[in-house]
Amino acid sequence: MIQLIRGFKDILPDDIHQWQHIEQTARNLFESFGFTEIRPALLEKTDLFKRSIGEDTDIVGKEMYTFADRKGDSVTLRPEATASVVRSYIQHKMYAQDPVRKLYTIGPMFRRERPQKGRYRQFYQINAEAFGIESPLMDAQLIFMLVKLFEQLSIDDTTAHINSLGCPECRPGFKKILAGYLESKKEALCENCRSRMTRNPLRVLDCKVPSCRKALDAPPEMTSYLCGECDRHFTRVKTALNDYNIPFKLDKNLVRGLDYYSRTTFEIQTLSSGAQSAIAGGDRYDGLVEMLGGPPHPAGGFAIGFDRLVELFNQQPGAKVKGPDVFLAPLGETCEAMAGKWAAELSLSGIRTEIDFSGKSLKSLMKRANRLQAGHVLIAGEDEIENGSAILRNLHTKEQVDIPLADLSETIKMKIKL
Ligand code: HAM
Repeated sequence: MIQLIRGFKDILPDDIHQWQHIEQTARNLFESFGFTEIRPALLEKTDLFKRSIGEDTDIVGKEMYTFADRKGDSVTLRPEATASVVRSYIQHKMYAQDPVRKLYTIGPMFRRERPQKGRYRQFYQINAEAFGIESPLMDAQLIFMLVKLFEQLSIDDTTAHINSLGCPECRPGFKKILAGYLESKKEALCENCRSRMTRNPLRVLDCKVPSCRKALDAPPEMTSYLCGECDRHFTRVKTALNDYNIPFKLDKNLVRGLDYYSRTTFEIQTLSSGAQSAIAGGDRYDGLVEMLGGPPHPAGGFAIGFDRLVELFNQQPGAKVKGPDVFLAPLGETCEAMAGKWAAELSLSGIRTEIDFSGKSLKSLMKRANRLQAGHVLIAGEDEIENGSAILRNLHTKEQVDIPLADLSETIKMKIKL
C-alpha cells in the first residue's frame, strides 16, 4: 500500500472539530480587528523566498521544496506565507486606495525539516499581516490580538516574548560587536555557527545546538545598541503592552530565523510538555515591501503554528469534542422512513444529526450513539408515532422526556439548548 510521505499528515475527521473551532475563533477575532482574508498561491517562483527570507537561512538553505517545472523554471512550495502576501500586496497594488491593509491567511506551508512531534514537513499556519502602519501601537495591537486568541481558546500556559532587532541604521554596528564576541567563543561553536558567524552573526544566537547555547551564555544584546528611533519605537511598544495589561517577557536573545525582520520581534512560547515551545512568531518587516519592488511601506505581522496550537488545545480537559447533537434511533421500517424526513429537517435547521437505518435493536443503536459521543438520542417506535411523540434521551444525564413530533426541530433546539 502506498503510504503518506514522511513528515506529512492527514487531518482526520475525528480531529477536524478542533481545527474548525480554532479557525473560526481566529476568523471572528481577526475580522473584528479589521483584518480581511487573503488566499495567496501555494507555489511561487523560488526567487521570492530567496530574496525575502534570505539565502543564508535554514529555510532557504536546506528546507525548501524546490523543483524545476516542466519548462525548467525554479518553483517552490511556500515555506511561509509572509513573502507571498507581500508579493500579492505589491502585485495587485492593494495600497493604491489606502496604504493601510490588514490581511489574514490560513493554510499549509512546506519545510523539509526533521520531523518530530510539533514539527512537520507540511504544517499549517494562521497568519496576520498589517501594511502601511508605522506606529509602534500596531506592533502592540498585533501582540494583543494574538494573546486574546489564546485567551479565547482558554490556553493559558503561554508567555509572550519580545525583543527589538533594530533597523539598517543600528543593526550593522551591533553585528560587528556580536561577531567579535562570537570570535572569542569560536572553539565551542558548531560547524554551522562557525561558518555563519562573520556572514550572519545574529543567526548564531538562534542556534539550537545545546553546546552552542551553553557557550553563548552572555552575548551582547541588540537592545543596548538601538538607535534613538528604534529605542523610542520599542519603548512605546512596551508601554502600550503594559497599558493593554498584556504580560510579556523581554527576551534579548530572541532573534528569530528570517532575514526580513526589523525592530519589534515576538514569539508566543509555551512550557507545556510534549510541545515545541514556539507556538507563534511575529515581526515587523519595514523594508520588505520596498525590497520586493513595492512602495516603501512599513509592515508587520505574525504566524501561528496551527498544528502546535491544536496540540496544545487538545491538552485541555474537555477539548476533545464532539459527536452529533442528536442521534435518531427509529425502530421498525415505517419509523425509519419517517425518521429519514425528520433527520433532513433537523440537519437543515442547524442541528448536527446522525441517523441509523440499520434496523438493529434499540440496544445496539444506543451502543452506537454512545460510541459516536452523541449528545442526545431521539427514539421512535410504532407506539410513539401513533401518539404523535418521540422520546428524547440525554446521554450525559440519562434523563429522558417525551416530545411532540410537531415542530420537532424547534422543540429539540429548546431541549438541547442550541
Ligand atoms: P516562523 O517562526 O518561521 O515565522 O513560523 C511561525 C510558527 O510556525 C512557528 O512559531 C511554529 O509554531 C510554526 N512552525 C514553523 N515551522 C513548523 C514546522 N515545521 N512544523 C510545525 N509548525 C511549524 C514565520 O513563518 C513568519 N512568516 C512569521 C511572520 C509573519 N512574521 C511576520 N509575519
